[in-house]
Amino acid sequence: MLHKDVFEKLMSEEELAQTVSALAERISADYAGRELIVVGVLKGSVMFFADLFRRLTLDECQMDFMAASSYGSGAASSGKITLTKDITCNVIGRDVLIVEDILDTGNTLSYLRDYLLEKGAASVKICTLFDKPSRRKKPITADYTGRVVEDLFIVGYGLDYSEHYRNLPYVGVLKAEIYS
Ligand code: IMP
Ligand code: MG
Repeated sequence: MLHKDVFEKLMSEEELAQTVSALAERISADYAGRELIVVGVLKGSVMFFADLFRRLTLDECQMDFMAASSYGSGAASSGKITLTKDITCNVIGRDVLIVEDILDTGNTLSYLRDYLLEKGAASVKICTLFDKPSRRKKPITADYTGRVVEDLFIVGYGLDYSEHYRNLPYVGVLKAEIYS
């Protein structure tokens, strides 16, 4: 039922694993010898987060999670962001890396980044598995990007459409007739 709605496989399990390993290598090199708090944005980043975090070779890294809602559960995000789950660790004076599934308009990540900086983080960088730069509304770029995608709606490997398809082990492009 699920797979028939996806018309094109964008990234296979093998390609995802390669992309995640390459990102983990870069992050591990950049933060070598430092302590890092890695904050996953629920729920879309769970698979990516789990695969990325276990590949970090840092001696000191902690995990934490946040969730934000932007009203509406469809294909488009409204501009208004609400924090629905906060982190539990103290970020004052710490280096933080936000891990997100996809950077779209940028509303969510600019809100979360500003929030963590206001909480006193020494630095806040962003790692996103996917980036749709053509849809950007806020001036924000990721420090680590897995793959740039066109203005298509993608699902799987944690990414959803109205809470569906998160369990697909690969990432596919959703047929436009499903969300239009
Ligand atoms: P932004 O605030 O517009 O950047 O939206 C980011 C959020 O929108 C992501 O965390 C996703 O939950 C969702 N989103 C945007 N594009 C897609 C997509 O193609 N597939 C699944 N979710 C998406
Ligand atoms: Mg999401």
